[in-house]
Amino acid sequence: SWEHVAHLNPRGVILSGGPASVYEPDAPMAPAWLYESGLPILGICYGLQVLAHQLGGKVVPGNMREYGHAALHQNDEETPLLADLPSSITVWMSHGDQVQELPPGFRSLAHTDNSPIAILGNDQGVLGLQFHPEVVHTPDGKKIIENFLYRICSCEGRWTPSNFIAESVARIRQQVGAGQVICALSGGVDSAVTAALVHRAVGDQLTCIFVDNGLLRTDEARNVLALFREKFEFRLKFSDSTERFLQALAGVTDPEKKRKVIGRVFIEVFEMVAEEAERESAGGPCPTPVTHLSQGTLYPDVIESVSFRGPSATIKSHHNVGGLPEHMGLKLLEPFRELFKDEVREIGAELGLPREVLTRQPFPGPGLAIRIPGEITREKLAVLRAADAVLLEEVRSAGLYEEAWQTFCVLLPVRTVGVMGDDRTYESAVAIRAVTSLDGMTADWMRLPAEWLARVSNRIINEVRGINRVVLDITSKPPGTIEWE
Ligand code: XMP
Repeated sequence: SWEHVAHLNPRGVILSGGPASVYEPDAPMAPAWLYESGLPILGICYGLQVLAHQLGGKVVPGNMREYGHAALHQNDEETPLLADLPSSITVWMSHGDQVQELPPGFRSLAHTDNSPIAILGNDQGVLGLQFHPEVVHTPDGKKIIENFLYRICSCEGRWTPSNFIAESVARIRQQVGAGQVICALSGGVDSAVTAALVHRAVGDQLTCIFVDNGLLRTDEARNVLALFREKFEFRLKFSDSTERFLQALAGVTDPEKKRKVIGRVFIEVFEMVAEEAERESAGGPCPTPVTHLSQGTLYPDVIESVSFRGPSATIKSHHNVGGLPEHMGLKLLEPFRELFKDEVREIGAELGLPREVLTRQPFPGPGLAIRIPGEITREKLAVLRAADAVLLEEVRSAGLYEEAWQTFCVLLPVRTVGVMGDDRTYESAVAIRAVTSLDGMTADWMRLPAEWLARVSNRIINEVRGINRVVLDITSKPPGTIEWE
């Protein structure tokens, strides 16, 4: 309701994209007050379709779904939304429906080959984009959003890593009070920066825990422990819980179920560590209860895990959001819940974290379990680890590690026939997945050099027992996701 929103003193409203279609019976619509408020409005994709539909235009299913890059050409009229941009730019499209008839008072401000109305607007600052300015594949998208915020809504940009750190430290101190915090450390950027921030806020009240869930890559547990013990000052505990996780995963094949099982077992382990930390503090000068669990949850984890009427469909339950059991003895502390990874890396740099940590490729909490479609077994894990280690070595030596968002292998649940030497083989296949991305929300498959691919394929087949075929995944996100499950 307007009463709900008014006290926020909004400067403008962005209607985001979403999976619905305006002509479905339950399609989410904007409240009427929005159009009477006089606020600038920017509709993006479904947001554009909603405002076109509600203001009297016509939205129809497109001739075909339009995914991927498109050339956007400005029409004759200048719009502040495209200020300082060339008359043609590349944009990212991902839609099925499109606006066929403009609402009264609106004009088409730009078009692409497939969308005659790629931007629409009226004189009251109501604007809509059929493409996605918020994804990295629209290279000038940031500028378009900046133009909307600064030129149309008269906002100023005051978010900086150091402001964020100062505000978060104060908030975390207040939330935690005299309690103790357990921080789940995975070795990745998000949890490392979370731990450094929480440590700055509460010092020795923090205990970090690194869990080997048996789903890590070759030597990962050893390397992460060595790195963090050398470079960080916080207390770090280690739990080898391989047995517990693999037992819980036995017979589980459904991707969502795997994620939920792993989330549940993680929490059981964290609660055990919390009890241990409490017992240890009970012997010391000031016994303190463990009250909080801190995690490096980011906004994309939240968006893709949580579904309520309106926004995105549940894509996957990221283990540190949707995979958590409903009843948990600890309160969650998630300082980066509203941030994206590039912002977290900036905060990490400001906190003085080593480059080695900040440039690590993301690795999912459920680990190799979501890179082995079907049941997880120790044998499959060993094969995948060996193939992945070869890939990683080659990625590093070709200087591709930092250019890529992620590079990894997926063990396919299929055996194929091959011939090695004079013998017939009947073994598994692995897929190579390499993507570029800025925030993991969208991604492009990496164009890797053919000679390099040939070497990786040969090495994997020659060196990894159980693999006789290597394939390359050439799917972007959308329509694929980065991980296979
Ligand atoms: P998808 O596969 O959804 O992945 O395109 C987007 C990014 O998120 C990572 N990912 C996860 N990270 N817990 C995590 O901490 C999870 O459950 C999880 N699932 C996916 C994935 O590796 C990619 O970088």
